[in-house]
Amino acid sequence: MNNFTFYSPTEFCFGRGREQEAGELCVKYGARRVMIVYGGGSVVRSGLLDRVKASLDAVSIPYIEMGGVRPNPTDPKVYEGLALARSFKPDFMLAVGGGSVIDTAKTIAAGYHYEGDFWDFFIGKAKVGNCLPVGVVLTIPAAGSEGSGNAVITNEKTLQKLGIRQPMLLRPKFSIMNPELTMTLPEWQTASGISDMMAHILERYLSNTPDVQIGDRMAEGILLAIMEEAPKVIANPNDYEARANIMWCGTIAHNDTCSLGRQEDWNSHAMEHEISAEYDVTHGAGLAVIFPAFLLYMSDVHPHKVAQLAMRVLDVQPNLPSDADIHNPSTWPLDEQKRVAKEGALRLKSWFHDVLHMPVTFAQLGVPNPDLELLNQRLHQNKGAVMPGYFPLDAETTMQIYKLAL
Ligand code: NZQ
Ligand code: ZN
Repeated sequence: MNNFTFYSPTEFCFGRGREQEAGELCVKYGARRVMIVYGGGSVVRSGLLDRVKASLDAVSIPYIEMGGVRPNPTDPKVYEGLALARSFKPDFMLAVGGGSVIDTAKTIAAGYHYEGDFWDFFIGKAKVGNCLPVGVVLTIPAAGSEGSGNAVITNEKTLQKLGIRQPMLLRPKFSIMNPELTMTLPEWQTASGISDMMAHILERYLSNTPDVQIGDRMAEGILLAIMEEAPKVIANPNDYEARANIMWCGTIAHNDTCSLGRQEDWNSHAMEHEISAEYDVTHGAGLAVIFPAFLLYMSDVHPHKVAQLAMRVLDVQPNLPSDADIHNPSTWPLDEQKRVAKEGALRLKSWFHDVLHMPVTFAQLGVPNPDLELLNQRLHQNKGAVMPGYFPLDAETTMQIYKLAL
């Protein structure tokens, strides 16, 4: 296991009615003036925004609000938020919504004290140094931003969708998580969120660092829990227990507990970010298209971890010689690693399609003729000629993966 530092100071307040505590929690973390950020209106329609504002009124905290953050959030909204913040002078950001809202709030928080252009953080020109604290009332389990030290923003002009990762500064102070708030989600958003959280686990699972059993077993356990609970929330959106399980899985999938002490692979995410930047598709749906293609490719060139996933999570049985170590697929005959891995990749693809009703090809995603040359070119402009990870990817290999997703 590699050395690691794990700093995860977020207070998670989970369960029914917890949004009523938003005001008290802001006070607890030092807020005296709050800027609320929200999305396209779901929190207005559900009455959540009014309840959050009432809880701030109850503790006499003045606030200003900015709505209208759209999915795949873009830089103009961040600039708008920064201008509003600089006139109102909040000392605390409160995000009420999903990953897009939280990431916009985090980015405003990061840019508030910075004299240059906040985009500098995203292109590696500057590091976030001083950041307003952020609190969250989560409405969709998906991106995991409620527990992560990340934010992802798209530059509308260059169509670069890039992230920043600074857990020391960007993890929220608190995250309120009431599973009941997720019952109004359309099936598409529920399912896209589930695809995204599964991808977050898999990006951490696909690691070459040996002997991190805790990471593997946690990842496998969370994947199994998601695959057990997902059909329940799809069948009955009001199933509180299933919603609760999915919601907490989404946080643990992305707060780094599964990746501590080992190399990670974020290449599927990078490949998907190019798709959602160019075609504005839902991030999790894009991952349901890319991830099976990525696993299929890996089944051929670097199968051992995919084979382990296939055996332990997707119930594929290996046929092994009697002296083989079933727990260690890298010791299996290579052909059997490949067979098991490939079968697992195909089973996962079917599961996304049949259980989550997710698209699993570009055409099903609503992009029948993707400009793969453009996506691939931007991918390597943003991520370098060779993307390191579970298996190093150059432009030729990423093109093959994109093609497998057609
Ligand atoms: O905007 P409103 O009206 O609120 O509607 C939203 C939006 O249309 C709707 N929604 C959310 N909660 C709802 C609801 N509708 C009904 N009832 C509710 N309770 O759902 C839609 C999607 O919301 P969004 O915030 O975009 O979803 P998500 O949480 O999936 O966030 C996606 C963004 O996060 C980024 C993605 O790339 C994408 O831009 N990511 C952020 C990460 C991070 N910060 O750590 C990591 C992820 O890998 C990801 O890249
Ligand atoms: Zn994601």
